[in-house]
Amino acid sequence: MKGIILAAGAGSRLYPASLPISKILLPVYDKPMIYYPITTLLLAGIKDILIITSPYDIDNFKKVLGDGSSIGVKFSYAIQEIPKGIAESFLIAEDFIQNSPVALILGDNIFHGFGFSSMLKEVGKREKGATVFGYQVQDPERFGVVEFDENKKAVSIEEKPKNPKSNYAVTGLYFYDSNVVEYAKTLTPSARGELEITDLNKIYLEKNALKVEILGRGFAWLDTGTFESLLQAANFVQSMEINTGMKIASIEEVAYRMGYISKDNLIELAKKYKQNGYGKYLTKIAETV
Ligand code: G1P
Repeated sequence: MKGIILAAGAGSRLYPASLPISKILLPVYDKPMIYYPITTLLLAGIKDILIITSPYDIDNFKKVLGDGSSIGVKFSYAIQEIPKGIAESFLIAEDFIQNSPVALILGDNIFHGFGFSSMLKEVGKREKGATVFGYQVQDPERFGVVEFDENKKAVSIEEKPKNPKSNYAVTGLYFYDSNVVEYAKTLTPSARGELEITDLNKIYLEKNALKVEILGRGFAWLDTGTFESLLQAANFVQSMEINTGMKIASIEEVAYRMGYISKDNLIELAKKYKQNGYGKYLTKIAETV
């Protein structure tokens, strides 16, 4: 399976904070935001990742992440000239995807919760159909909303409905089989001028090929779209990391635990940050795991 991170938005709701640099490279506590979606894909067993950015930010992303070889994975880059919708990712990425199943994650989506790694591992093995994740929220009208029947089977999906049929938002993490590029080509722009990911999910739903996994109570799906929510996300990460002594979304740690790099590689990577707690943490992981 291949992976795509869509990191092309202007992030204008965070201006002026995100004027000098893509919102997706802003820190969430102790690491750039993009570390969070990267680790989500790595935990799903995905090592071949395309990062879609705006033309202005591509060099910054390359500077931060390089080609991925230092953590045993492959990063490549593509440009979305103007934000024309999430589903456009599959048209931009057609050559990258070829005939592989593919996962897409939005660059500002942060997931954290018990059992997530094993769920991702399982979903990452699916070769047919699509899988999305439902999460209960207070303000479903801001999201794609999925409605279930009494057997918890998805029966409808709507984008930002005025009268939501449930409180379950569709999160920004999507797994598709190799038909996705062909289906994306059939989409037409919505009223807001975008190729909607919800329209793509509806195609799978109509074909009875859409699975919706529920992320239950106690699970964190964090928003980073406003000043308040970005700070809250940072506070959440800080408090979890301090309470448990474990880091959330360290790309180096996850690459090591997934077996993509050796102990010596991790010790070497830790040296880069030896002045601070991030580097000391990586050294501790290399010594104890
Ligand atoms: C997008 C999708 C929406 C989804 C949300 C998750 O919303 O269109 O279906 O629930 O991401 O973050 P947008 O970022 O376009 O407001």
